[in-house]
Amino acid sequence: MTDISALETNILADIAAASDEAALEAVRVAALGKKGSVSALLSGLGKMSPEARKTEGARINLVKEAVAGALAERRAALKEAALEARLASETVDVTLPLRAQGAAAGRVHPVSQVTDELAEIFADMGFSIAEGPDIESDDYNFTRLNFPPDHPAREMHDTFFFEPGPDGTRRLLRTHTSPVQVRTMLTQTPPIRVICPGRTYRCDSDQTHTPMFHQVEGLVIDRSSNLGHLKWILEEFLKAFFETKSVKLRFRPSYFPFTEPSMEVDVQCSRAGGEIRFGEGDDWLEILGCGMVHPNVLKNCGLDPQTYQGFAWGVGIDRLAMLKYGMADLRAFFEADVRWLKHYGFRPLDFPSLAAGLSA
Ligand code: DAH
Repeated sequence: MTDISALETNILADIAAASDEAALEAVRVAALGKKGSVSALLSGLGKMSPEARKTEGARINLVKEAVAGALAERRAALKEAALEARLASETVDVTLPLRAQGAAAGRVHPVSQVTDELAEIFADMGFSIAEGPDIESDDYNFTRLNFPPDHPAREMHDTFFFEPGPDGTRRLLRTHTSPVQVRTMLTQTPPIRVICPGRTYRCDSDQTHTPMFHQVEGLVIDRSSNLGHLKWILEEFLKAFFETKSVKLRFRPSYFPFTEPSMEVDVQCSRAGGEIRFGEGDDWLEILGCGMVHPNVLKNCGLDPQTYQGFAWGVGIDRLAMLKYGMADLRAFFEADVRWLKHYGFRPLDFPSLAAGLSA
């Protein structure tokens, strides 16, 4: 009798002393497992008289229940303690300021920032984005854009040509984003409203030219699109981009094979103190080329010039970035100097938006 009570007391003490779930499991196996001490008592019942078996059996069962109950209680307590300890050790204070490392150390390149700003502004006016490959055919880069064969305009572009292919045609690094106009007209049905930002290439290098640079092309094709629309779009774009209340534009006649009439656009600016500011002053700065899409280009791209008309423009993205953010040398854009990027780059979590500010 007493050894049963002593056994119970010992097991309950072991349970109370178990400091983790593994230790507790060892106590359970030692007591209630197949070869455990309580199980041994139960298997001893067979040798007893029916009378003794009845009283002893009931007694042992009570012990078994008490042990099982104590085990469950202790297991729950240990689980809770483990959770508490984990919560205490893994506490995060969400009110702490961000560390000056990690995401905060990376910078968005001004070209990427300006491209995002352009996308934001034109998306607001209902434009989508179209893209094309950097390696283009002579056909898309020149011929379909109405550059006559052997016309000096082809040479003016300082084109990087590849060796001619087996069919005699030369591929090239696109010299402007205008071939994306061709690709868009060949695959979309008007009305078309797209901007086409991307890399462009010309064999040229000085303070304002690099062999690789960036342009954004705009294209609108509809049944009645006209120069009045173009002027409004460019004004709205420049106001939003330079974050000024008003801009004054001046259109000068020019020549591009793919537009007729063709124009160059100057923006009113002030150069007082050597700094260019828009929306004031009586100076002018040339900013982009544009015009009504030439009927030959429409035809070359499968559109009937009797039905459709439209306009297009092309701007240098790097130049826009230089004007807006005051960098003097274009070559520094592509030198991958971390100090330059740290100075002129943008924080990655500040997305350009018309509501929150484009260059916030
Ligand atoms: N593709 C021209 C260039 O690189 C820029 C340009 C001028 C694009 C007039 C146009 C345009 O779409 O209409 O010099």
